[in-house]
Amino acid sequence: MSAAEPPQGATRAPSGGSEAAKPQAWGHTNLLKLDNVSRHFGSLKAVQNVSFSMSEGELRAVIGPNGAGKTTFFNLVTGFVPPTSGDIWFDDENIRDRTVVHRVRKGIVRTFQITEVFPDLSVYENVRVGVETAAGLNGRPWLPRSVRNDVAARVDELLAVVGLASKADRVVGELAHGDQRVVEIALALAMNPRLLLLDEPTAGMGDTETDHMVDLVRRLHDERNLSILFIEHDMSIVFGIAQRITVLDQGRVLAEGSADEISRNEAVRAAYLGTEA
Ligand SMILES: Nc1ncnc2c1ncn2[C@@H]1O[C@H](COP(=O)(O)OP(=O)(O)O)[C@@H](O)[C@H]1O
Ligand SMILES: [Mg+2]
Repeated sequence: MSAAEPPQGATRAPSGGSEAAKPQAWGHTNLLKLDNVSRHFGSLKAVQNVSFSMSEGELRAVIGPNGAGKTTFFNLVTGFVPPTSGDIWFDDENIRDRTVVHRVRKGIVRTFQITEVFPDLSVYENVRVGVETAAGLNGRPWLPRSVRNDVAARVDELLAVVGLASKADRVVGELAHGDQRVVEIALALAMNPRLLLLDEPTAGMGDTETDHMVDLVRRLHDERNLSILFIEHDMSIVFGIAQRITVLDQGRVLAEGSADEISRNEAVRAAYLGTEA
């Protein structure tokens, strides 16, 4: 167990809100909830009156044609853009006006959010920086041996989880594209997410890399009970792993349901005609 624990100080929130203080009504059922959220860019309605909820432990896909508002939806959840109207709840808190950093501390983590990959550093060093950032240890000139040991154990654990232990000493910038994206996932995991958001995790990957990424996402959900929200355009992946699917079209929720329900939905088929193979 101890190797799986983050180093001291790595727990998410130095801010208030203890576990015990959560209102009963929310519990852990609604991890994420959007109430009538819209985001306009000038006259363009990128996201329109979207209501959405997701349970803790769920593996959910967001799909939709290009320009449907999927990435904007992620930006609203992660705090990169504020909503024009509507509320966003995470666990027991209305986060609509909260900063990206606050949301990361709450456990809303997206690849490429706080940390970035350092291409000239090794895989190990990248993940170490991520672990130290999460633990608030960055920039300290000297760390006690016990803390260093905890950090090293956490780095080893994360490398094992994502399957990069054998490539720990490789320079990230020289890795294949697929492995670089896996490093990003390791960095996201270093932030101790409660909700992991992945925007097209298999984009630009070949078949083998795609299989590896899909297997990783599935394992993170199945073995670690991680709540995952992912945008994906490859329908075989979506139908293969998502428990529920939310379809966006022109900024609105067009449909929501299981793979079966979505694949039979006429409106979804119509929205995809001509844009999907
Ligand atoms: N920062 C922005 N400024 C202006 N328009 C934007 C911005 N971000 C997204 N959009 C527009 O919002 C719409 C939805 O974009 P996006 O959320 O990226 O869609 P998707 O990820 O589904 O392809 C598009 O028409 C896009 O051009
Ligand atoms: Mg997008």
